Amino acid sequence: MRVWTIANQKGGVGKTTTVAALGGLFAAAGERTLLVDMDPHASLTHYFRMDAERAGLYQVFNEDRGTHELAQATAFPGLSLLAASPALATLDRQFGARNGMGRVLQKALAAAEADYDRVLLDCPPLLGILMVNALAASERVLIPTQTEFLALRGLERMLQTLAMLARSSGHALDHHIIPTLYDARTHASRSSIDRLRQTWGERVTRNEIPVDTQLREASLAGVPAGEWQASRRGAAAYQLLFDELCAHEDVVEALP
Ligand SMILES: Nc1ncnc2c1ncn2[C@@H]1O[C@H](COP(=O)(O)OP(=O)(O)OP(=O)(O)O)[C@@H](O)[C@H]1O
Ligand SMILES: [Mg+2]
Repeated sequence: MRVWTIANQKGGVGKTTTVAALGGLFAAAGERTLLVDMDPHASLTHYFRMDAERAGLYQVFNEDRGTHELAQATAFPGLSLLAASPALATLDRQFGARNGMGRVLQKALAAAEADYDRVLLDCPPLLGILMVNALAASERVLIPTQTEFLALRGLERMLQTLAMLARSSGHALDHHIIPTLYDARTHASRSSIDRLRQTWGERVTRNEIPVDTQLREASLAGVPAGEWQASRRGAAAYQLLFDELCAHEDVVEALP
């Protein structure tokens, strides 16, 4: 089972859209895929028309229940979702200071090891118990970063968070920066992508995700990008990104 987190402390950069798109592609490729909505706003849960009032991730923390038992099947074969609920917002207050709370999700996923090939965790845009749990459970972090100046500042904060957690846990996470909402017609987009590549080089994926209003339409229709017939540019870009990330995973796997 491979667990990836999609995180950035900056909001609205395409995290949820990326989770839905990559999740659809993994499931279409035959992997048993679990998406976990870790955001109390439950955007991913709503994306897939799931009920945020039903038992889901909150019960993993609060009632120690299993992810497989709580996950719901989506309308797409091979794609399941563990739903978020507004109650997740209370976790920091309830458990923030309690020891061992940073590894609840990791333990729950370890118990579901035989049920899924791939798990994608959609983080909220803030550092708290949910993001800490996601990062502790993952082997790889994808950081969608909007190609505009303010978003680059958000990226720096996210990288500092990763460095801080690496120091406390003793191991660094493999991380990749994904340029999103790229608009080649604007100077702001072009100069930010140049800055990203100059500063973080190989950490930045070769394939960026363009602005494509069809991705918004796909989310309104509750369909992952690759399954949304009208989406071309955005869906094609996610397919290329998917291929790039999988190729990189194969290389890492082949290392001695
Ligand atoms: N490449 C894109 N082109 C056009 N619109 C996009 C693209 N990616 C995302 N969007 C739209 O931008 C909005 C924010 O995207 P999304 O919800 O994926 O971001 P997020 O990082 O998960 O936000 P939050 O931090 O609030 O969880 C949504 O309306 C989404 O449909
Ligand atoms: Mg989101």
